[in-house]
Amino acid sequence: MKPSIYVAKKVPGEVAEYLEAHCEVRYWNGNEAITKEQLIEEIGDAEGVLLSGTPVTSEVIAAAPRLRVISNNAVGYNNLRLEPIIARGILATHTPHVLDETVADLAFALILAAGRRVTELHAWVREGRWKKGQEEELYGLDIHHATLGIIGMGRIGEAIARRARFGFEMNVQYYNRNRKPDVEEKLGVTYVGLDELLATSDYVLLMLPLTPETRGMIGAREFGLMKQTAVFVNVARGPIVDESALYDALAQRTIYAAGLDVYAQEPIDPAHPLLTLPNVVTLPHIGSATSATRMEMASLAARNLVHALQGKSDIALIPELRNV
Ligand code: DGY
Repeated sequence: MKPSIYVAKKVPGEVAEYLEAHCEVRYWNGNEAITKEQLIEEIGDAEGVLLSGTPVTSEVIAAAPRLRVISNNAVGYNNLRLEPIIARGILATHTPHVLDETVADLAFALILAAGRRVTELHAWVREGRWKKGQEEELYGLDIHHATLGIIGMGRIGEAIARRARFGFEMNVQYYNRNRKPDVEEKLGVTYVGLDELLATSDYVLLMLPLTPETRGMIGAREFGLMKQTAVFVNVARGPIVDESALYDALAQRTIYAAGLDVYAQEPIDPAHPLLTLPNVVTLPHIGSATSATRMEMASLAARNLVHALQGKSDIALIPELRNV
């Protein structure tokens, strides 16, 4: 008998066909992303679930007595509460590797847009504010040969460093829980302490997972250490940053600009103070959002789910489960 699964997010047709070939599938058909409460109502019989971003808490686990596999259709898995998952012996997988280059591209889009004021000046042209004779008012900051500080040197951090070193000839320094001598040698990047990185980088880029240790890690003290000309870019997770401290730093121009793809609350409230600032470039959490990469992520998430249910070992387990 095929295992029963619940697919709690939209997947491409080919991925649905693959899942249906191996499983009895039920789908979430709502137009909006499924909530935790809706997931609890839907998941009762499921042995496997495919989802993205929905919180999987003790309540969700308790509502699904047959659940054996959670396939998270994202590389970040801060939506999963690990204790109840580990306690029940459930397998949890994610989608590493396939999005690294795509997220690195978007990080660069934000570096360029914030440094060269692309969205701000785009609005100027449309609003008829471009006048002959304007000079310094239009100036931005160089990217080439500037110093990029990457906080978090995982695979995506490496892909960003490669673009920075070999595309823009930037000096790249990084801070990471573990030093990476192989990456230092391969890419010509330098390891520094966090405070030194904050104080000496022209671009400060956050690329860490959200964990209890990283939540709130960048706040008023950290923004206070940055240069007045620093550009801050976050393509990781919003809650790592204290947004009111970021607002103060940008509004008071103690830093130059920010490029943001992620927020404490998503979608961000359109009335959020950060969105009133001209020196903020904002995107709606689209780091991995190209057609090709989202297809790869959905395919990997589906394969992880089916293979885990079949007891195969070629699945991308989340790191915390690899040695359990
Ligand atoms: C990821 O895969 O973690 C991206 O941020 C999309 O959520």
